Amino acid sequence: MAIKVDKEGRLFHLQTKDSTYQMYADEKGILLHTYYGKKIDEENLRGLICRADVGFSGNPPEAGEDRSYSLDCLPQEMPGSGVGDYRDDCIRLWHSDGSMAADFRYVGYEILAGSYRIPGLPALHDSEEEQGQTLVITLKEVASQVMVCLYYGVFEAENVITRAVRVENQGKEDVILDECLSCCLDFQFGDLDMVTFAGRHAMERGPERNPVGRTRLEVGSVRGTSSHQYNPAVILCSPQATEDFGDCYGMCLAYSGNFVVSAQKDQRGQTRAVMGINPRQFSFCLKEGEAFDAPQVILSYSDRGFTGLSHQYHRILREHMCRGKYVRARRPVLINNWEATYFDFNEEKLMAIARKASSLGIEMLVLDDGWFGKRDSDNSGLGDWFVNEKKLGGSLKRLGDRIHDLGMQFGLWFEPEMVSQDSDLYRAHPDWAVQVPGREPNRGRNQLVLDMSRKEVRDYLLERMTDILSNAPIDYVKWDMNRSVCDIYSHTYNRIGEFYHRYVCGVYDLLERLLARFPDLLLEGCSGGGGRFDAGMLYYSPQIWCSDNTDAINRLDIQYGTSFFYPVSTMGSHVSAVPNHQTGRVTPFQTRGHVALSGSFGYELDLNKVTEEEQALVKEQVAQFHKYYELTHEGTYYRLSGPAGRFCAWEFVDADQSQALETLVMTSAEGNPMPVHTTVKGLDPEKRYRCSYNDMVCSGRTWMNGGLTLERVPGEYESLLIEWRAEE
Ligand code: GLA
Repeated sequence: MAIKVDKEGRLFHLQTKDSTYQMYADEKGILLHTYYGKKIDEENLRGLICRADVGFSGNPPEAGEDRSYSLDCLPQEMPGSGVGDYRDDCIRLWHSDGSMAADFRYVGYEILAGSYRIPGLPALHDSEEEQGQTLVITLKEVASQVMVCLYYGVFEAENVITRAVRVENQGKEDVILDECLSCCLDFQFGDLDMVTFAGRHAMERGPERNPVGRTRLEVGSVRGTSSHQYNPAVILCSPQATEDFGDCYGMCLAYSGNFVVSAQKDQRGQTRAVMGINPRQFSFCLKEGEAFDAPQVILSYSDRGFTGLSHQYHRILREHMCRGKYVRARRPVLINNWEATYFDFNEEKLMAIARKASSLGIEMLVLDDGWFGKRDSDNSGLGDWFVNEKKLGGSLKRLGDRIHDLGMQFGLWFEPEMVSQDSDLYRAHPDWAVQVPGREPNRGRNQLVLDMSRKEVRDYLLERMTDILSNAPIDYVKWDMNRSVCDIYSHTYNRIGEFYHRYVCGVYDLLERLLARFPDLLLEGCSGGGGRFDAGMLYYSPQIWCSDNTDAINRLDIQYGTSFFYPVSTMGSHVSAVPNHQTGRVTPFQTRGHVALSGSFGYELDLNKVTEEEQALVKEQVAQFHKYYELTHEGTYYRLSGPAGRFCAWEFVDADQSQALETLVMTSAEGNPMPVHTTVKGLDPEKRYRCSYNDMVCSGRTWMNGGLTLERVPGEYESLLIEWRAEE
């Protein structure tokens, strides 16, 4: 049993293999957070809470004369707003009498077998190998009939604890929920750093580390998506933590819309971190009997540095968030025509790309933007999901069949959530676009956003997509989303604070219904590359286009940052042409392949335009993809260096430590070069391994401690694959 409760039903231990999370409902009914960290025995740690009479930190009525009991200082699970805790809170309620108070007390608990589901939202699920366990704690607001259910999921073997929140109005009067965060983590002692993953379009998820002090650290999004700019996943770690050592706590939100995460030290040096839906532009009205479900936060603790933490997230997201056939099934090597043709294609151009690709072993052609409506540039046509047969020289079925006849699969691009003003859809339904009546809307990429919170909009999209997917042999869909949301308004309800969340729920609803209709479809998420690369999207699409930037050297930074939370199997990564379309940089074909191999692999160029030597390399790379698939997609991933040095290296090790694969890319060159020495990790110290670089056989212990020095310093942008194989 991963969840243990004392006989009074007030002390809760969530035990994973290596960590413990402990809570205690005290005699006043406040749910206190007593501990999260390295595993402890089932003993009450409430004694760790040091109480004191702190000036200007008031006391709740039950405290009586005891001035040392203050919500402003106590570590809590669900701090409410307006009732004496002046730090960041998780829930804010406006009652019908105009008052604002959220004062919750413990009512009871329940333990459920298996993991919990959240209506309409993604959540970790059980697998054949591991079932989660769920603790539900119920709290009641003191002066109203608002109930809160706190959900805690425990995945013992994976060292993961999840949190989610349900707020229910059981009273007669309306209640306004102005904030409902999913998770509060209070740390009473010690210093922490916060690592966030920040960037911009085509340069996503660069780690940034800052000490948590009294100045509030906060990142988030109000763009309607999780965004390129900040990612809904952060690490809190001890200031001493490194790649291999030290305490690390991960907070990862399974949600694809507006979010916030912050951390700050209070007046007594205690750290509070909170995470959830961004309260900016958020306000929900709960009528009698209505409930609100806040999304899941996936927590994990490791005392083995960033590497240990990443391993835990990789496993849990791969095995318990991704769903469907492609959790196990091998992903096809694809070729996408976007950077090869942009909008300028016809059937023959596509067939020429497909024929060449198939002759080199590539398994799927993905037809990107431009196959529908009037769409020869990005200024028109979105929303008109009708095949442009004139441009394709025939039906989509005919094209799909021709691709299938080559022995390839066929994939198609959609951007369901958008509409161009120059489209039949917009002309017929201008009110389906998100815009405020009487105001000119902002345009992003010259397009507007569809109101995904409206069922008729989703029904139209489902009908169009179903029609297209059932009338042509389509194996894969790239689901794109190419602008941020603003000018929010909806014709179907007047509480605009509900819009952003309803939008995200609408997107999830459409994805869910599409997958129910086409369960074997492989979905690749995308939002101008990695603008919606989050755990929520992985519930629907096991791979996400990592970035619109395909430059192999920039990809080192992007894939490095992405790897802290997200498994390599989820990162769409392609070999593209040089000079690179985003950076103008020229890198060797081999290096582009080596970098893309550490991802859901593919090509994005016209292979008829590359040299014969490079075509031969494609064959070799496809063979390498298959040869190393178990390692790259299911193996354990190690960052061997950051991307900021002279070279960047990373490694995969298989489950039984019989094989390891290192990729090393030189990022710069220097005169009179210093030697290149690289480490190796994760081998079995007792086994003997042959290294493909120099054919030497040494024990795992020797390789891991001694490392490997390259005989020749590779040139700028050159790369190597090095294999270690255990001797029988
Ligand atoms: C976005 C995607 C690209 C491509 C284009 C098509 O930018 O990230 O990969 O699909 O849209 O318009």
